[in-house]
Amino acid sequence: MTTDRILAGAHKEEDDVLETSLRPRRLDDYIGQEKVKDNLRIAVAAAQQRGEPLDHVLLYGPPGLGKTTLANIIASEMGVSIRTTSGPAIERPGDLAAILTNLQQDDVLFIDEVHRLARAVEEILYPAMEDYALDLVLGKGPGARSVRLALPTFTLIGATTRYAMMSPPLRDRFGAVYRLDFYETAAISQIVERSARILEVELDEGGRDEIARRSRGTPRVANRLLRRVRDFAQVMADGAITVEVAREALARLEIDAIGLDEVDHKVLRTIIDKFNGGPVGLDTIAAAISEEADTIMDVYEPYLLQIGFIQRTPRGRVVTRGAYEHLGLPPHGRPSAAGQPALWD
Ligand SMILES: Nc1ncnc2c1ncn2[C@@H]1O[C@H](COP(=O)(O)OP(=O)(O)OP(=O)(O)O)[C@@H](O)[C@H]1O
Ligand SMILES: [Mg+2]
Repeated sequence: MTTDRILAGAHKEEDDVLETSLRPRRLDDYIGQEKVKDNLRIAVAAAQQRGEPLDHVLLYGPPGLGKTTLANIIASEMGVSIRTTSGPAIERPGDLAAILTNLQQDDVLFIDEVHRLARAVEEILYPAMEDYALDLVLGKGPGARSVRLALPTFTLIGATTRYAMMSPPLRDRFGAVYRLDFYETAAISQIVERSARILEVELDEGGRDEIARRSRGTPRVANRLLRRVRDFAQVMADGAITVEVAREALARLEIDAIGLDEVDHKVLRTIIDKFNGGPVGLDTIAAAISEEADTIMDVYEPYLLQIGFIQRTPRGRVVTRGAYEHLGLPPHGRPSAAGQPALWD
């Protein structure tokens, strides 16, 4: 069920062709995330003035918000090459050692899903990040000795959807940590407009904003919806995306006015109907709707937290008044559980 979900921020194979053509290449084309961009511009300019590599950068946030895109942009703004790999792909310490020794001076090494690095691999990374050095142990037993090899200077860019799962020593070695937030609807509108221009799709303001409102603040989802609506416009209308065409197409995809689909509704209805609105633990919710707890946490919950339909409390998840109203249900009749502001991790 999850993998077919059109609104999932997570990458799907069908995104591949689009993502290459739609991916912005320079910081000026990267829409939104203004604070992150401002900080990056300064960091890049300063590093270039000093003739040094950029400090190691950690990017975190929910899937589809632009981490991979940003890593590539940083490399091109620095004018260096990027080598891309991922936590689970680096199986042994030797694999990482080989990658590191093959870097050119000041290159970017991009490690996606950096929270999934093996412990032994992480340990190679520490001296590499701190001192641009590779510590090798030669021989075994009492005769063993350790030698230190110099590595080219480089910038590590790590990306993760799970900041909380990263080991503290690894986190601490990043000079800059940027959290990507869900995008404002206005920024998503700009992204839809830019993508439509590149894809040569005709779309008016109403159609554009309708798609943007239902994209859950996620560029990848926006691009995916644009493509679905384009298909619909081509077959069922004259090819142009107007507000009516967008509404009709999105209704057929069972995406509601604020971008929730039937799975979001199921999560909310389950907490309301079966658990009296909560608090209820994530594992219990997961079991009730036959989903993995991890999937709910990564894919469904972040946006429901963001729009304030769910709150996290020490005793579990609680559905808020806003969600009842959106679902057209009478308010619950007990004071809303005013917990801590929801934190995404
Ligand atoms: N700021 C942006 N402006 C314009 N388009 C963007 C922006 N951010 C992302 N995109 C678009 O969204 C798509 C998904 O972005 P990207 O692959 O960088 O996300 P991600 O955070 O790396 O996701 P994942 O966690 O799944 O790896 C890109 O192909 C790009 O077209
Ligand atoms: Mg990515």
